[in-house]
Amino acid sequence: MASKTLLIIGSGPGISRSVATLFASRRYKNVGLVARRAESLAAEQAALQQAVGADVKVGIYIVDITDSEALAQALDQADDELGKPETVFFNAARVIPSAFFDHDIKEIEYDLKITVSALYLVAQRYIPHLVSLAKSGEPGTKPALLVTNSALPFHPIPQLFALSLTKAAQRNLVQSLNLTYAPEGVHIGIINVAGPVSPDDAVRNPNNIAAKTWEWFEEGGKEFEVVI
Ligand SMILES: NC(=O)c1ccc[n+]([C@@H]2O[C@H](COP(=O)([O-])OP(=O)(O)OC[C@H]3O[C@@H](n4cnc5c(N)ncnc54)[C@H](OP(=O)(O)O)[C@@H]3O)[C@@H](O)[C@H]2O)c1
Repeated sequence: MASKTLLIIGSGPGISRSVATLFASRRYKNVGLVARRAESLAAEQAALQQAVGADVKVGIYIVDITDSEALAQALDQADDELGKPETVFFNAARVIPSAFFDHDIKEIEYDLKITVSALYLVAQRYIPHLVSLAKSGEPGTKPALLVTNSALPFHPIPQLFALSLTKAAQRNLVQSLNLTYAPEGVHIGIINVAGPVSPDDAVRNPNNIAAKTWEWFEEGGKEFEVVI
């Protein structure tokens, strides 16, 4: 069995670090981390490598995923270095206040590019591969596209209206992908983190979110979403 790859789009010290650590310790020998800031990404690489040891290869790819050409180049490089992923964890988002009507339309468009357009490009690139993995018949294969979202699609916060609307659009896209490709054997769904994340929160702390995500992943897509 080829060594498996986890690709994290939107890597930082919160949810994605805990998910990368848990998933790499349980299943993945290659992990790709994508984010904009080189220094922060190097810190994520070091933290993950320290947590899971030298057996796991950790590649970092510095790119703003709203730049579609640069994203394609970064993912070409990741595929060459780590192999195409078995699981894509799409986690990137920008949380900034957006008040009526000071918020510039360009900021809304930028958020839509992160949350929806980049997810579409990632899905377009990898879902055919995930479907072929599902159909390969290889025992234990678990092809997946997992997307971090929130309760904002159901309960928009007007002071965060831009994030609320982009998360609603993202959820809708993931639903369409799920309706189309879950029957083909690909686990496509939402991690609904239904409130603020804090290391001190008993439920919504990054390690517990990663643990719940792993349980849901292990079930292989019986449920569209896990609510945490
Ligand atoms: N934190 C919360 O309270 C909370 C609550 C509910 C839901 N969520 C959801 O959880 C996910 C994030 O989890 P987290 O807050 O714990 O963050 P995290 O996993 O620590 O890191 C997410 C990373 O995404 C990267 N990113 C953002 N925009 C990007 C872009 N344009 N291109 C490439 N990378 C980009 C950022 O790195 P760079 O800045 O270096 O690019 C950031 O560090 C989001 O989907 C968010 O909506 C979070």
